[in-house]
Amino acid sequence: MKLKTIIQLTFILAFCASCHHAKKQEIAEQPSLKEATSGSFMMGAAINTNQAAGKDSAAVELICRHFNSIVAEDCMKSETIHPAEDVYNFGPADEFVQFGEDNNMFIVGHNLIWHSQLAPWFCVDEEGNNVTPEVLKQRMKDHIYTIVGRYKGRIQGWDVVNEGINDDGTYRNSKFYQILGEEYIPLAFQYAHEADPDAELYYNDYSMFLPSRRDGVIKLINSLKEKGLRIDAIGMQGHYVMGDPTPEQVEESIIKFGETGVKVMFTEFDMAILPRNAQGADISAREDGRDAVNPYADSLPQEVSEQWNNWMKSYFDMFARHSDIITRINMWGVTDGDSWLNNWPIKGRTDYPLLFDRNFEPKPFIAEIIQQSNNN
Ligand code: GLA
Repeated sequence: MKLKTIIQLTFILAFCASCHHAKKQEIAEQPSLKEATSGSFMMGAAINTNQAAGKDSAAVELICRHFNSIVAEDCMKSETIHPAEDVYNFGPADEFVQFGEDNNMFIVGHNLIWHSQLAPWFCVDEEGNNVTPEVLKQRMKDHIYTIVGRYKGRIQGWDVVNEGINDDGTYRNSKFYQILGEEYIPLAFQYAHEADPDAELYYNDYSMFLPSRRDGVIKLINSLKEKGLRIDAIGMQGHYVMGDPTPEQVEESIIKFGETGVKVMFTEFDMAILPRNAQGADISAREDGRDAVNPYADSLPQEVSEQWNNWMKSYFDMFARHSDIITRINMWGVTDGDSWLNNWPIKGRTDYPLLFDRNFEPKPFIAEIIQQSNNN
């Protein structure tokens, strides 16, 4: 490499490093979202392994400044943390928990029993046939005892079962259900409680603004309570598209869930701008036609940004009205650039679903609530 090129490269790198430093400094001086919402609920974010390892330093600044709770985006899903029956991959999860502790955060483990991103060995024998109920119970018990036990006293809440109920309120026909029937859900809650009696336990699902799904979940929660099992909250994932569902539709479910005596958490909140056909968060749903449906690849028109901010404001106003029931609002990601919605259900689009933009700046509505609390 020529000397001139080396000097140019060194100059560019030094310039980038100083921009990054200036960005971190600027974030550190902003008032915080977690303080602005502290009278109502915790503010959380799902964080990825780069962030938990401290590698994405501007994002780390933002997380520490604005959020007081974190969830593991992927590293605790069974296919990742328990890829083979005798193999656990604790490295990334250990880093995630350490990150939360170092920053005094309320740490949530996500998740213990889920049909998707499921370790391929979990429910089948070597020939690929479903295992017997006894074998599956033992595997669930080992999985839950080992993971919850490892972080006992360090992780404050667990998504114990994810997505067990269908839109029509019936049980999802997952492998867990095929082998154990409805019993797999109370068993999972029992094992999690035995492994850490102090941890909060949650049932987590999507599209629970739909009355039929909501009623199915209410039946489930009541049956767990009748069995004397610990259940602290219902996690409403909250993967929405602007205005769909409306805050009013969601509000009804919050009120009805509150009547069961458990708390409500928005566990995976994001509000897409890009249209999609798929409902909820079925990550196996895929759609084609990227060019036709990627209208804001370069930037977002002012009027669309205003619509998004207005909808977000209506949601936060509604959340605040129910802060006696809602204990945590957790965003599924930190900045728009991190969001899974850039790749679902169509790969390679540019969406704008989170509270901070690709330049780590708060969206106007978020900047406003932060500023207001700063003035009080
Ligand atoms: C579901 C899961 C999450 C995540 C999101 C989308 O809602 O619960 O873990 O996979 O889908 O990424």
